[in-house]
Amino acid sequence: MSDIVAVGPTSGLQYVRIQPHMCKALEALELEAFPTALPEDLYDEEGFLEVAEDFPEGSVIGFDGDGRDEPVAIGLGIRTNFDFDHPQHNMKTFLADAPTASGDDPAGQWYYGTDIVVRPTYRRRGIGKELYDMRKQIVIDLNLAGIVAGGVIPGYAKHKDSLSADDYLAKVSAGELYDPTLTFQIENGFEAVCALSNYLRDPETNDYASLIVWRNPDYQSPDGGNS
Ligand SMILES: CC(C)(COP(=O)(O)OP(=O)(O)OC[C@H]1O[C@@H](n2cnc3c(N)ncnc32)[C@H](O)[C@@H]1OP(=O)(O)O)[C@@H](O)C(=O)NCCC(=O)NCCS
Repeated sequence: MSDIVAVGPTSGLQYVRIQPHMCKALEALELEAFPTALPEDLYDEEGFLEVAEDFPEGSVIGFDGDGRDEPVAIGLGIRTNFDFDHPQHNMKTFLADAPTASGDDPAGQWYYGTDIVVRPTYRRRGIGKELYDMRKQIVIDLNLAGIVAGGVIPGYAKHKDSLSADDYLAKVSAGELYDPTLTFQIENGFEAVCALSNYLRDPETNDYASLIVWRNPDYQSPDGGNS
């Protein structure tokens, strides 16, 4: 049994750190959560095992009920020194350039969110918000600068013929359009910085994603500043 690190205040889910024995079931949950993405772009069992090895303290996995054998929620991340002057990247090259198999750089000052998933039948009950709140707490506890991530923008599929990806992000950020993922992230304190091209292959959205950022207000940088 893994130690429970939190009980969801809204959902009652039990959250634990990622462990090797759950990684096969996490692979199945990942495929269920991203039905239009290409499986080779998603975490598989091996990828989850690498995170469990390198940076389990950056993860939260949600289970429903006392049996705790069926994961229903995933929040994962790695540490990195993100280059905001050159933000274009995709997951594959980004992880391949890092010093460990999982992509985690123990000297990294940012938490890079690699995965956030709620089983479809458990959505819209506040579990996603719990995952983001726990991530923020991890970042505060480890004194990291903030959270950076590439977010999918499923709602862009309906607008890709009339709007550039950056114009779409601007309209979602202004509240003029709703995106099932980005709107939720903005409500959780994130800012959409720019569109990422060729981020994750998904023909529905022409492979676009958004670079999103949340800054830790309590961060103390190694040189004594807070930005
Ligand atoms: C994005 C995702 C993680 C959100 O998870 P979730 O558990 O549904 O998130 P929440 O329940 O906290 O919030 C989702 C919405 O439900 C609403 N909601 C929360 N509790 C609710 C309730 N009891 N009744 C009605 N609505 C509720 C929230 O206000 C939010 O609304 P919004 O879409 O207008 O922002 C989930 O949809 C998912 O796994 N998507 C596929 C994978 C994915 O896109 N991951 C992100 C990759 S970048």
